[in-house]
Formats: sequence, structure tokens, C-alpha cells
Amino acid sequence: MTTQEAQAELKEYLSLSQENKEETEDEIRPIKTLRIPEYNKNIDTYKKAGMEAIEKGELALLLLAGGMGTRLGFDGPKGTYPIEENKSIFECLFDNLRADIGERQIPFFVMTSDKNDQATRSFFKEKNYFGYDPGLIYFFRQDMAPACDFDERLLLESKDTPATSPNGNGGFFTSLLKAGYGDVLKEKGIRWLNVFGVDNVLAKIADPAFLGAVITEHKSAAVKAVLKKDPSENVGVVCEKNGHPSIIEYFELGEELAAQRDENGELLYCAGVTVNYLFDTSILLDTAGRKMPVHKVRKKVPHIDAAGNFVKPEEPNGYKFEILITDILEFFPDFLPVEVIREEEFAPVKNLHGADSVDTARKLLEARRA
Ligand code: UTP
Repeated sequence: MTTQEAQAELKEYLSLSQENKEETEDEIRPIKTLRIPEYNKNIDTYKKAGMEAIEKGELALLLLAGGMGTRLGFDGPKGTYPIEENKSIFECLFDNLRADIGERQIPFFVMTSDKNDQATRSFFKEKNYFGYDPGLIYFFRQDMAPACDFDERLLLESKDTPATSPNGNGGFFTSLLKAGYGDVLKEKGIRWLNVFGVDNVLAKIADPAFLGAVITEHKSAAVKAVLKKDPSENVGVVCEKNGHPSIIEYFELGEELAAQRDENGELLYCAGVTVNYLFDTSILLDTAGRKMPVHKVRKKVPHIDAAGNFVKPEEPNGYKFEILITDILEFFPDFLPVEVIREEEFAPVKNLHGADSVDTARKLLEARRA
């Protein structure tokens, strides 16, 4: 991206930024979660419906692997991290896939970014595509967004290069279409996209029961959700916002709504999202060309100063722009949160140690093997 192009894009990102819009009062309502007992009651029906759709070629996978993984601080794409002895996160995900659909192979899109595209492709090749048919793996790069300082002036990485970063995981469909893969969806008759993050090593992907649930319940989008442990747990929860499905953070929800319970004493806003979604592709295709809202996020942005010296800030010094998955949900008429057992399906690798870390994920993988 040239500096001139970045200036124009920055203007556009600023105009779409939600934070630059006037605040309005949002109408928040709960959305019913498909809880485990109910799910289990219909599991055979769901599995059958999901497997039928898979056999008909209606499902494809889309791996979100364009993130910077800054919290992990690993020098390389997060998916290449050796989470187990001789096993990368990517390999773990392919193992999970086989556990769900055996040796069947379905189209597998991989979203990278300018920062990790080459390294990701080389790793897949070096590992012989984890035994998968390389003809079914479609890499594409996500869009990059320029970064600016707190006065909304473009920051430069070097004299002629703007500071840029991947524009958030919600831009996946726009970037997929830009890569020309809309045709692949249409030609192959792909009706459902299972969109998942790179860092949940317990993610069940292409899960026939999950797919069957969304089909049987006549919904157009779904997410695997873990139940909030207590009202104040800081996790994005599913809700309806101004009549559309959405995900709301604890601080936005407020103490009162976060603590509301139904007649059975269950939290009304209980479904904490994991990055494992199903989307009806016909609705995604309808969103083509529509402007997505953008979020201006305070971050540390390495840049050159007025004297041309490279600065690596210790504290946030500017804004990066991100499109979030919740911004895509706005285009969907309905949404099905499906509860999963946390210990069985949720082991995010965000940090090296502590919560949601390599340490906790290894323990959970070990427990699964036991
Ligand atoms: P996170 O929000 O955890 O971000 O991404 P991250 O970049 O991986 O990690 P930090 O915040 O820098 O430590 C959740 C999922 O969305 C993908 C990530 O690769 C991960 O699978 N993602 C995130 C993208 O594909 N692109 C992005 O721009 C951001």
C-alpha cells in the first residue's frame, strides 16, 4: 500500500468507525441458547442432517489465521506454534477435523495476512498439507488497514511505507471475495461456511451435529458457546441488538443486564462466544459490496517519528482499525448459540502462561487423551 493509498483508506476507515459516530441508545434483548440437554435429545437427528449436507458438498471450512498473535509473542504464525511435542496448532486442528468427519475432505479456506502469508503457506507445504488434498486448500490474504496516531494522522513504518495491520477477523468474507473465491462457493454449491479461529486447539470443526442443528432449527447462522461462569465474567455474550444478532462485551452490557436471570434462575445473557461459527453463504454473498462498520482500537503502533527514527512504543500510541465478526452478524436475520462443554471444546491459546494460555491448553489436551 502506498502512502497516498493509505491516506485515502484512512479517511474511509475513520468515516466508518463506530467510535466516531454519535452514541445512540441500543435496544438489547437475549437470544435463546440451545442448551446441552435439549441438544443431546436431538443429537441423532442433528448428526444425520449435518452428515447429509456434508456428503452433498454443502459445507466448507474457513480458518481465520490472519491475526498478529501479539499476546503469545511467538516469532511465526500462531498456527505453527508447537503446542505438543512435534505437533503444531495447525496439525492439531486437522486432527480435530478427522475426528469429526474421518477421511472425508471438504474445501478448506485459510485466511492469512500480509504479515504471515508466506510463512503459513511454506509451513503447510513443508508438512505436506497435513495429509489433506492441497487442491482443496485455498489460501487468501485479508485486507490490511492503515494505522494512525491519536490525532488521526497516518503513521509510517518507514519513509515510504505506511504502518498497517490486518483489519480484524470480521473482514473475512470481503477478503475471500476479493481473492475470487466467491466463484468457488457458487460452483461447488457450498451453502455453509464453518468459520473458526486458529487458536482453539480443542475446536470441533465440520461438526455434523452442529451443522445439523442449524439446518434443522432453520437458522442462518450459529456459534458454539460456552456458558458464562458468573455474571461478571469478561467474555463477549450473544444478544440481539436493535433487532439483529450481536455479541456484546460485559462492560457494554452493564451490571444490571449481565445479572438478569430467567424463570429457572439461569443467566439470560449466558452464551459466551467461541470463534467457531456457521454462516449461510447465500446471506454472506448478499452482503457483498455493503460497507461494514469498523472499530478504532487503541494499540501500540511501531512507527518512525518526525526525525525518521524508528520507535517501538511501550504504551498505546495510536489506533488500528478492525472489523469484528459481530459486525457481520448484523446482516443475519437469526442466530443459534449452541452450548458446548467448555473442557471438551474450548482451549484458546492467547498467552504463553496464565489464563487462556499454552499451559492451560496443554492440560486440556492431556485431559482429552486420558
Ligand atoms: P484474536 O482476537 O485473539 O487476535 O483473534 P490475535 O491477533 O490472534 O491475537 P492478539 O490479540 O494479537 O494476541 C481471534 C482469531 O481471529 C483471527 C486470529 O488469527 C484468531 O484465529 N484474526 C484476528 C484474523 O484472522 N485477523 C485479524 O485481523 C484478527
